[in-house]
Formats: sequence, structure tokens, C-alpha cells
Amino acid sequence: MPNLAALGGEPVRREPYPEWPVFDQRDIDAVTQVIQSGRWGGFPYPGPNTLKLASAFAEMQGGGYAVPMMNGTVTMEVAMRASNIGWGDEVIVPALTFQATAAAPMAAGAIPVIADVDPQNYCIDPLVVEKAVTPRTRAIIVVHLGSQMADMDAIMEIAERFHLVVVEDCAHAHGAQWRNRGAGTIGDFGSFSLQSSKILTTGEGGILLCRTPELAEKAASIIDCGRPKDSAEKQFTMGANYRLPEIQAALGLVALERFPDQMKQRAENVQYLEESLSEVPGIRLLRRDERLTRRSHYLYGFAIDNEVFGAEHQAVCFALEKEGIPAEEGYPPMHHYDLFQPLLSKLPVSSAFPERFDFKKMSLPVAERAGEFESVWLSECIFRAGRKGIEDAVNALSKLQKNRDEMVQIEEKRKQMPGV
Ligand SMILES: Cc1ncc(COP(=O)(O)O)c(C=O)c1O
Repeated sequence: MPNLAALGGEPVRREPYPEWPVFDQRDIDAVTQVIQSGRWGGFPYPGPNTLKLASAFAEMQGGGYAVPMMNGTVTMEVAMRASNIGWGDEVIVPALTFQATAAAPMAAGAIPVIADVDPQNYCIDPLVVEKAVTPRTRAIIVVHLGSQMADMDAIMEIAERFHLVVVEDCAHAHGAQWRNRGAGTIGDFGSFSLQSSKILTTGEGGILLCRTPELAEKAASIIDCGRPKDSAEKQFTMGANYRLPEIQAALGLVALERFPDQMKQRAENVQYLEESLSEVPGIRLLRRDERLTRRSHYLYGFAIDNEVFGAEHQAVCFALEKEGIPAEEGYPPMHHYDLFQPLLSKLPVSSAFPERFDFKKMSLPVAERAGEFESVWLSECIFRAGRKGIEDAVNALSKLQKNRDEMVQIEEKRKQMPGV
């Protein structure tokens, strides 16, 4: 009789982890009030809830001028446009992230230049960034991935030296702090997603934190169809309707009330997880950087030793799911996304573009290793299920590792049936 649930054994956990998003009467009342007010959408911009959300969010994050908008992708496109970044400009992005980080500069007309990540935190590697800068480079978009933050000291030093705009993609980093400064308040822009899986959610939504009121004014104009926001300015400029509806803003205000307690709960449980995980052979924890003074946990990532587990990360995540533990293998390396293959994305790849834009020829060894073999990401819900929730996750990992021979069978089956 096999031990692992993936082969028919008894799973470690039968009880589901807590649902997300959570809600109570406050959300229902907030939405009801917006419905009764008759002002459902985002026009005229900003509405009363949107204004309140902007100031409450900037206060929670510890600085910046917040402009709420439709999602955490247009936030980055707007950051590009507000900085006059567009056709022919190069924007350096990390190789491990959601496609939005590269799609947003492309939407503004810029070319994403993909940089490898640091094996210690899976965030963009400043040494690689520095080498990727050319006279056409205008910006760096860093992603604070999972529970980590990119090395903002090194990134800001490079940006200052080469006069580059810095956008922090904080879709995973609401509430996080680097040297006691809020994620998204260190660079020129902080981009936040409020999409339904995120730890601060309005269903759909985004917030762009801007370093100056002038940048915030430009961003507000771009998302409001280019309406002038400066009283001296009379003309429409280029823009589109990317406004956040008032219903979403009202939900955001309630979500902010809950957020500090949820963040604290996740942090306590992650602390316990790290202490326990260090006892499971074949697991490499990412670096606990002391400069990351407040951690926030959307996903929690670590690396597995494929030899010790007898399998690659896809099979490990599949087996974990069967044990009742939600886990995912994470993003594939960005240069393997079809979207960014030059022919499909219609990027010009002729002689005008050097080899480094031909993604098929790129080698990004750290992202390839993480994205194709070793990274495992535990879902946020695990950190809201008390110590038992953590113990189940650790026991499941330990069980997989102890049943290496069964993991080898699962891996073999998976390789015969792609997609499993
Ligand atoms: C790293 C990262 N950046 C950007 C986004 C885009 O956010 P949205 O879905 O709100 O457009 C996401 C969303 O999943 C993300 O994970």
C-alpha cells in the first residue's frame, strides 16, 4: 500500500485551508452605501471612496502619493507613460515574475530587457541589472517576489548612477518594509495589485504610489482619459479610462481595516514555518535579509533539492496538493513565455536588435533552475490556519522526502503524461 496520497495513500490533511477573500457585514454595508449613493463608477475621478482609499493606503504603506486604478498591470503602464517612457526605450525587468511586469512596459511601447534573479531571494539581481544598462535604458522594474524584497539599496544606487526610473512591482508586497521604508515608496513608483488573490483585495483593482505630487497628477490624468488635472492645463492629453470604480474603493477601505491583523498573523505563522522547515532535508530556505525589516507574505517560496526529493518541483507540488497542501511551482522563466518570443510578440528582431533581445538565445541560469526545477511556493491561506496549518504543510513535505521512491514513481508518471 503506497504512503503518498498521490498514489492512493492517506493524505496528511483533509480539512480545507481557509478561503480567500474573507468578508463580513462591513463589506456588505460599504457596498450597499455606494449602491444607494448612485455613484458606482469612477467618474468623475476621484470619487469620495477613491480619495479616502488613496490617502489611507499611502499612510499604511508609509509614504507616496497614491492613485487608485483598475489593476496592478495598468499601474506599471501608467508609471511608464507618466515618465515619458515609450517607443524604443528599454526597461529592465526580472526573469521570474508574472507576465504583467513585462507586458506593462510593452503596452507603453517599450522593450523589456530580461535580467536574471538572485538565487538567494529570487528577486532581480542588481549585478545583472548593471550589466544590462545601455544608453537606451530608461527604467528598472523590480518585483518584490513572494515574501522577499529586491535589494533596494543596490538598485537605487544603480538607478541614480544611470538616471533611471525605478518602479517597484509590489503586487506581492503590501505592507512590507525595507529598512523601515514601505515597499513602493523607495523608487519613483510603487505598483500594487488588489486583484482577488492578493493579500489586500478589492476583487479587481490597483494602486500606483508616486514619489511626487507632480507624478501623481500625471498618473491621475492618464487614467482619467487624459483629462487635465493641473488647473493651468486645458487640453486633454493621451490617456484612457483606467479608473477604479467606487464600489471597489469602498471594499478596499474595509480590507485596509483588517490588513494589519492579517499581516501579523501570517508573519507569526511564517516564523514557525521557517523554524520547522529547516529540519526537513533537501529544502533550501531563501535568505532572511535583515534589511527587510517587515515581511509580508503572499506566497512563501523555497528551493528543493531534486535529488533528495527524487523529483522536480512540479511533481512535488502535485504530491503536496494531494496531501491537502496548496502549493505551486511558480513562474516559468520569463524568456520561455511564448508571449515574449520575438516572432510572436512582434518585437523587431532584425539587425537593429542585438542578440540579447532574442529570447530563444538567452541564458538566465538562476531563473531557469528556479522556474523549471526547484522553486516551491506555499499559498497564503496556509498562514491563516494556525500552527496546525503549518505543521500539516511541514509534515507533508517531510512525508514526500521520506517516501523518495514513491516520488520517483510520481515523477516518472508525470514525465510520461505532460500536464500532470
Ligand atoms: C508580480 C505581479 N505583478 C503584477 C501583477 C498584475 O496585477 P493585476 O492582476 O492586478 O493586473 C500580478 C498579479 O498577479 C503579479 O503577481
